[in-house]
Amino acid sequence: MKILMVCLGNICRSPLAHGIMQSLITAAKLDWTVDSAGTGGWHIGEAPDRRAIAVARRYGVDISSQRAQQFQPHHLDEYDHILVMDRSNLSHVLAMADTAEQRSRVQLFLEDDEVPDPYFGDHLFEPVYQLVAARCEALLQQWRDQA
Ligand code: 4NP
Repeated sequence: MKILMVCLGNICRSPLAHGIMQSLITAAKLDWTVDSAGTGGWHIGEAPDRRAIAVARRYGVDISSQRAQQFQPHHLDEYDHILVMDRSNLSHVLAMADTAEQRSRVQLFLEDDEVPDPYFGDHLFEPVYQLVAARCEALLQQWRDQA
């Protein structure tokens, strides 16, 4: 199973989801892969935001070696689950999809809600971490039950 987490900059929300899901996959000894990307290209090649690195580190998750990449249309064929953080990301990703099969792989990470963007609010990193971690655990459980 191949999972891609997507947000806008690929330096805050999707790196957290990527790192948390990776640590759950490793702990569960699953042969799944997870990566992340941003719909915007401003931060390509950069490490995650220092505030995202710090909040993850507090919970024992190291995301410091991740590097931002921009979402590309070919990702629609390479991942089984493309999980996007907000509705703006969703419309950008779906705009690149040509087929119903590609569209069927794309969903909001929170199903019918958005992960708030913490980039302009320092106080949001902690609640966003908690929100993302809880959802990663639920998704892992759901996919394991389906397997
Ligand atoms: P992210 O947060 O989408 O969670 O990585 C953002 C990071 C950077 C920008 C916006 C959101 N930016 O405008 O540069």
